Amino acid sequence: MKSLSFILAAASLAVQGLATETLTPEKVEADIQLEELKRNLHNLNRIADANGGNRAFGLPGYKASLDYVLERAQTRFAPEYDTWVQPFNHTFAQVREISVTGPEGETVDVIPLIYNPSTGEEGITASLIDTPVDDERGSACFEDQWAGIDASGKLALVKRGSCAISDKLKLAKAHGALGVILYHNLESTPNSATLGAENIGLLVPVGTIPLAVGSAWSARLAAGETLTVKLYVDAVFDTRETWNIIAETKEGSPDSVIMLGAHLDSVQAGPGVNDDGSGTSALLEIMTAFRQYSGFPNKVRFAWWGAEESGLVGSLYYTSTLAPADADKIKFYFNYDMVGSPYPQFAVYAGDNAGDMLGAQALHDHLTAAGFPAYFGAFGSSSDYVGFLELGIASSGLFTGAGAPTDPCYHLACDTTDNVDYEALTANARAAAAVAAQLALADPATLPARNTTTLNPRSGRANIRAQFEKWRRAAEHATLEKTCAHAGDHTI
Ligand SMILES: *[C@@H]1O[C@H](CO)[C@@H](O)[C@H](O)[C@H]1NC(C)=O
Ligand SMILES: *[C@@H]1O[C@H](CO)[C@@H](O)[C@H](O)[C@H]1NC(C)=O
Repeated sequence: MKSLSFILAAASLAVQGLATETLTPEKVEADIQLEELKRNLHNLNRIADANGGNRAFGLPGYKASLDYVLERAQTRFAPEYDTWVQPFNHTFAQVREISVTGPEGETVDVIPLIYNPSTGEEGITASLIDTPVDDERGSACFEDQWAGIDASGKLALVKRGSCAISDKLKLAKAHGALGVILYHNLESTPNSATLGAENIGLLVPVGTIPLAVGSAWSARLAAGETLTVKLYVDAVFDTRETWNIIAETKEGSPDSVIMLGAHLDSVQAGPGVNDDGSGTSALLEIMTAFRQYSGFPNKVRFAWWGAEESGLVGSLYYTSTLAPADADKIKFYFNYDMVGSPYPQFAVYAGDNAGDMLGAQALHDHLTAAGFPAYFGAFGSSSDYVGFLELGIASSGLFTGAGAPTDPCYHLACDTTDNVDYEALTANARAAAAVAAQLALADPATLPARNTTTLNPRSGRANIRAQFEKWRRAAEHATLEKTCAHAGDHTI
């Protein structure tokens, strides 16, 4: 009976929402607790462990991550939040098996790249032909670097670095190579990368091997030896549905929205606890904190993006399908991708939009006051702010670094709960919460309007549309090749 009356009381209150206290930045900041941030990361890590080691687009770990967020946003927090799931399709690719066998029959360490084509069931066994090393411009990146190389019927040995791997593979294909053995340009374990869905059908298969092995083979070829190696890649391509989650406060004006985003997917190579379980967890706790409060004039909208690791696909889908009038209503976008790197830097994004500084300065001041060495950094092109910048929406966000030295487990299986600096994560989540509250409480008239001067035909939406057109063609190509493969032709 006790619990029943509690449920009834909660249900009647739910009509009005449960929040009775007035929001302040100090209150939401104090609500962000290390134990809760940690609990989310443990749960996301567990989800990956139970689903083949990752939470990647197109695989069951992503769906389980989605359910984890929805259990809160859609189920428990229904009184305070409106939540919707935005579906979209993208080309899925997975390397099921990959191997490189050296000239003495030895097995060589090899890592898979995303959108790697298959070699067919027999694999490719061929003699190796070297290409010149050029660490300045990048090896085998330009047509002139292939002058005089006839790779017909061979596997080309190419050093990684500088240009896109797909550029090297296109040139290898143009010069007759059956495949590429790509050796890493650093002593460390090679990390995975995407060859890009738009390149499906344009590339030869590739195996990425350690620097020491590639250099040794290069030296033997230079000494006149003939080396025969084998590359085997078994890859699948198909179109899969995936989802963004958008949850917004019922409180606040729909015409004046402060938005916070983090991506929910990991790479296939690992559980993605820092990348981007950290941002995902921060947003979950900020959402949890905000539900207790009312009295803010602007709506707060949270987004968990899908398929970020495949090329910012979810956030670009969202921004490219926003009507201009709806884009106008988003007054600020904060991006939280990798906010708990184990050896953190404290970068605060700031761009050339006058409005960016409103959020950026607030984040910077907050972190500095808490004793963290925050600094302003420029936006790049590798996280979900891109679509918002292209729409001219004022943006900022935090980033603690990817790759060595800040995060040596970037895109690797070791991006687990051990790969997080919890002090940095807590500080960043608190700064994000306080600043979200600060902007939610601001007079809507003082929030930055969208800067539409950036919307010329050569940037902005035209670019994004062109990107989706490329992906659509690649998806058609993938479907076509799948049909061919089923007909008995195994060369995808
Ligand atoms: C995704 O593809 C499926 C199958 O072709 C289709 O039924 C569905 O409508 C697509 N979804 C979206 C959001 O385009
Ligand atoms: C609008 O964007 C352009 C191009 O990025 C920039 O040069 C300009 O300063 C911006 N204007 C404002 C008011 O932010």
